Amino acid sequence: MELNDLYRDVILDHNRRPRNFGGLEAADASVEGFNPLCGDRLTLRLKFSTGKIADIKFEGQGCAISTASASLMTEAVKGKTRAEALQLFDRVHRLLTDDGASADELGKLAALSGVREFPARVKCASLCWHTLASALKSTDSHLLPAVSTE
Ligand code: FES
Repeated sequence: MELNDLYRDVILDHNRRPRNFGGLEAADASVEGFNPLCGDRLTLRLKFSTGKIADIKFEGQGCAISTASASLMTEAVKGKTRAEALQLFDRVHRLLTDDGASADELGKLAALSGVREFPARVKCASLCWHTLASALKSTDSHLLPAVSTE
């Protein structure tokens, strides 16, 4: 199977059966993201425990790429610290915008690299990631330790 076919299958699968889709009771953070290009919105809700993302869910109406990206993202960041999740945000951002960016060790998230060929869709794929970054940056440090400056 060609790599591009594999990536397309991952995106289709996560759009058809989005993981971590729905509400989250007693969330510690709830942040809405908005794509001004199409008007689509996405809400992320997170729970933290022992300095990590213990649970994360998303809701909203979006295109296949934004739904698949949010689904892949929620799987990837569960259990991560704020610093780890922000690091992943940086890597995915590079993957979406820089042709030379490597997808090594990104696992299924590598499927998002296919979006690079469609510049108009980059905002679709990055919507949930920007929403996550703003949720993490605005979360009190008693729930998540401050970002490491190492
Ligand atoms: Fe709206 Fe993709 S078209 S998020």
